[in-house]
Amino acid sequence: MLRLDRYLAEMGAGSRQEVKKYIRKGKVKVNGDTVRNPEQKVDEFRDRICLDEKEIAYASFEYFMLNKPAGVVSATQDRREKTVLDLIQSKKRKDLFPVGRLDKDTEGLLLITNDGMLAHRLLSPGKHVDKTYFVRVQGRVTEKEVELFGKRVNIGTSEKPEWTMPAELTVLESGEISEVRLTIQEGKYHQIKRMFQAVDMKVLYLKRERMGLLKLDLSLEPGQYRALTQEEIQRVADKDVTEY
Ligand code: URA
Repeated sequence: MLRLDRYLAEMGAGSRQEVKKYIRKGKVKVNGDTVRNPEQKVDEFRDRICLDEKEIAYASFEYFMLNKPAGVVSATQDRREKTVLDLIQSKKRKDLFPVGRLDKDTEGLLLITNDGMLAHRLLSPGKHVDKTYFVRVQGRVTEKEVELFGKRVNIGTSEKPEWTMPAELTVLESGEISEVRLTIQEGKYHQIKRMFQAVDMKVLYLKRERMGLLKLDLSLEPGQYRALTQEEIQRVADKDVTEY
């Protein structure tokens, strides 16, 4: 049970002050009856709440898979830049956030939710959740890099080294511009760009394809999103996410 004004505010119907006004004006019905007291308790799982005759359904947790386009930042709000949350038009909850960050120029799989426990499981360093990226780089990627990335790479400096954990590098195309698939288990700042920098190569394009058991839906164009299916939610929430 929760207060009617809180219910409406949490579902994104307006600020707490705005929804109180709507309620007092008689715009809100609970199970068909107009309620003018913002403090009235409602059962979020049983009651039918309408604002201006439009049902405001309850969602405790929401989960979206976004194919993040380049040019938007992985933040909940930003004064200057467009954020990944601006792209999720059908959200009900106001407390959504992106699970981890992709750089502004990186594309691909980004999970957006308000489920903090799930986010923690996916992000906590001890869990070693695999993250797989498609990478286009300037430079010839060869077995030498496959071997090196499979051990460890210093992405810091010689005075202040910062070592990566073993990563799996698969060369898809090797040339002046190479295409590779890289799986890492960490999320250090600009990690992949710095790994290639360490071998004097430059990342030209970066796209995340997979995070733990969650795969980017290939039918989503950059900028498009969809709700996770029940099966996907179960898969990421219930099981050990590192289990394949
Ligand atoms: N590594 C990077 O360098 N950037 C990203 O966005 C993700 C991983």
